[in-house]
Amino acid sequence: MATDDKGSGYPPEIIGYAEPWIVAPGDSVAIKISCTEAEYKYRTVRLIQGIDLEHAPEKKTEQILEIPEGKGKGRFQAAQSGSYAYVPYWGPPTTAAGLQISFYMQPWMLDCSHVQTLVSTLNSVERTGLSITLNTQGSLVVTTGNGETLETIDTGLKPQKQTWSKVKLTLNGRSVKLTMTHKSFRVEPIPPPMSFSCEVDREPVLFRPGPLLIAACSGGTATLANGQSSELRATDFFNGRIDRLTLKTCGETPSILARYDFSQDISSDHIIDVSGRGHNGTLVNAPTRAVKGHNWDGSESDWTRADFGYGAIHFHDDDLDDAKWETDFTITIPSSARSGAYAVEVETINGLDSDSITFFVRPEKWTADNSNKVCLVFSTFTYLAYANERLYDHSRVNSATLGPGFDINKALKSAEFYKMRRRIDLGLSCYDRHNDGSGVCYSSSKRPILNARPGYIMWGFSRPRELSADLMMLAYLEREGIPYETVTDHDLHARGASALQGFNTVITGCHPEYPTLKSFAAYSAYSKGGGNLMYLGGNGFYWVSALDAARPHRLEVRRGDTGVRSFSLPGGEHVTSTDGQRGGLWRSRGMSCNTLFGVGFCAQGTSLGVPFKRTEASRDPGLSWMFTGIESDIIGEEGFGGGASGDEIDRYGVENGSPEGALVLATSTGHSDDFGIAIEDLDFPALNTLGTQTDLIRSDIVYYVGSGGGAVFSVGSINWYCSLAWDAFENNVAQLTGNVIKGFLAGKR
Ligand SMILES: [Fe+2]
Repeated sequence: MATDDKGSGYPPEIIGYAEPWIVAPGDSVAIKISCTEAEYKYRTVRLIQGIDLEHAPEKKTEQILEIPEGKGKGRFQAAQSGSYAYVPYWGPPTTAAGLQISFYMQPWMLDCSHVQTLVSTLNSVERTGLSITLNTQGSLVVTTGNGETLETIDTGLKPQKQTWSKVKLTLNGRSVKLTMTHKSFRVEPIPPPMSFSCEVDREPVLFRPGPLLIAACSGGTATLANGQSSELRATDFFNGRIDRLTLKTCGETPSILARYDFSQDISSDHIIDVSGRGHNGTLVNAPTRAVKGHNWDGSESDWTRADFGYGAIHFHDDDLDDAKWETDFTITIPSSARSGAYAVEVETINGLDSDSITFFVRPEKWTADNSNKVCLVFSTFTYLAYANERLYDHSRVNSATLGPGFDINKALKSAEFYKMRRRIDLGLSCYDRHNDGSGVCYSSSKRPILNARPGYIMWGFSRPRELSADLMMLAYLEREGIPYETVTDHDLHARGASALQGFNTVITGCHPEYPTLKSFAAYSAYSKGGGNLMYLGGNGFYWVSALDAARPHRLEVRRGDTGVRSFSLPGGEHVTSTDGQRGGLWRSRGMSCNTLFGVGFCAQGTSLGVPFKRTEASRDPGLSWMFTGIESDIIGEEGFGGGASGDEIDRYGVENGSPEGALVLATSTGHSDDFGIAIEDLDFPALNTLGTQTDLIRSDIVYYVGSGGGAVFSVGSINWYCSLAWDAFENNVAQLTGNVIKGFLAGKR
């Protein structure tokens, strides 16, 4: 169902997002809401614990009374996906014999259900300009406007899917000529050059001041609720790549009007006119840059080092960088607000639906004395990478297969799942593929992220995960009265180790999977400075990600050739467009999770987790402070995901970079064959890959004291927090976690 066409029968729904997503005390936050019902009410809270399951601790929030409660009128808002380039003025001459447009194109979706625009200056109101499109049969179509009518010509010329071809259109008087020449990458056979020519009934009006759109055409303006016109709405988006677009006049001495070299300024949202005329443009909705162009020859696979070959942009009709919803109201964070995860809780007045519009508040002062505090890092990069993921959707090419026993109908799901499933307008995650089959590289916080909610139950594992699980750790700190602050991945990226300076101990979320070079380095520098680290998750510090501090809403991930992944990007496209870093696994870059945290990802399974068993090393009298009050040899028998070792798990391994002298205090045993080994741990032949077949599938609890004097304590399991919160923290996972935190605060090592 297209949510733009909200019809009768659409269920009551209220959702929204906060912009910015991460703020400081004193900042203003715009709240943007879509609500099907007539009226809603709202209040602002600090989130403490949001899971509502048997055995869970009490759900808890703390209302921020300084921020007024209120009511608002409901109105439905939808996001408009689709990326394109917008050039406000392309320099049409006052007189010229005609116009030539040439470009390289590589279509990725020839069976698209809608028209796909390659280039357009068309003004459908004045009926002037031209467009070159692909129709739903994959055939090139030229449309021209003569000031009175639009004339549409199906040339019948059909490009090949994922093959480069050069398209050249010449419009001169009433004459229309289109040529298309395919390009071989090596020696593969290609269609012969094709051409089409005809005369239109009336001479087109080509040279009118107006915008040039690449990969979309103007749909005119939209009338807003307040009666004003919105900015130009684009439509008929292209799925594929465009390279080297040139516009020039006809005649014996044609003059170049504009020429675009997309290999310039790749890290930005700008496109550069290299003709010298300065008709630069802007990219909308973050199409993918740093992709191979028409002349890429394999001699260089890193765009930052290439002299040529990266002049293409890959556009998608489902790219979404900014939902651009209207703001319903703005709140101001009190200057006294403490750090944490917050939400504007909205509920329809008729009580039929509610949402927690989540955002994060940084500590007020970075320079405060934090020596008696711990710092919990919210994995905001992970929340972005997973934002609104659609791996459950078997109508998509990259839906996840979760084993023969998995049945999504039987899986535990929270209300957000159903909203996420119907709100297909809210964009994709870095786990999904685009409609044209290419992998998604960017994710944005400028939209509702419906799986970053305090009560979210992850459909694939039937348990809390990411934010909802991380909040269970926060609730534990509250319960134990442990002084704490929270920061986010974004803060570590922006401020480095200074964001962690002075804290006694830094605690990760359950799934800190997507560090950038800067955020990863912040942990190392903090540890070198003597700080204590607690990695209480699994599959952490796994993929390289990238963020531009000037556009912190957008995360980039480039998935490479290895690692547990839902797709691989094409060869030659593994370097991030944002900062020119080599993407893929941190392990592939020699910076595995093991090298700092002592454990690294090894296996995954959706069935229930298993407990840990203590090792002899844990009996060292010098470590007895960690195990005070723990009678059993077995740790973490129960939890929302079964035993404390489950979901994605990590093991100790010197071969993968774990410090030689680190101690393995406990290890998990008994993983079933629903757990499979990580692909990067396999060498030829790929045998003994399941839980009962190898002892390489396990979590290890690892402890060591680093060279800076700070300790590292790691558990290697996403399930840890699911067991921590079981029976309202009355269990030995909570006991061990608390012993370690309190021991660190007391100076123990
Ligand atoms: Fe993950």
